[in-house]
Amino acid sequence: MTDQQLIDLAIEMKSRAYVPYSNFHVGAALLCEDGTVSLGCNVENSAYGVCICGEQTAVVKAVSEGKRSFKAIAVAGDSDGYCLPCGACRQVLSEFVGPDFPVICANNAGAFHRFTLGELLAHSFRLER
Ligand code: THU
Repeated sequence: MTDQQLIDLAIEMKSRAYVPYSNFHVGAALLCEDGTVSLGCNVENSAYGVCICGEQTAVVKAVSEGKRSFKAIAVAGDSDGYCLPCGACRQVLSEFVGPDFPVICANNAGAFHRFTLGELLAHSFRLER
């Protein structure tokens, strides 16, 4: 699976986003270790605080299907700049992957950039006593 293929899936998933409040579509494609891809989109709610991000949809779908090892995630949104995961999504990803994990972010024009989770979430929380 190439970065371009994963980004194409994320862009496709934007069409599934349920976004009556923000009208900001986010699609995510999470490549699992076994070669399958878990797809996600954002799902909003009239109680704004329980809106669910596209990346989190993809992670929760995968984990609930028994998958916990991931190779990369692609994210696409309605932004002119690269659509980067929010802080909460970075934290959710960090539960399952390490700092070298590739986070591939697309912009509206279809261009994309490969970040690492370590770049996006430095010095992250660890449950250590
Ligand atoms: N959103 C995501 O899906 N992923 C992020 O990383 C940040 C924001 C969604 C939440 C909401 O539905 C919309 O984008 C606007 O914030």
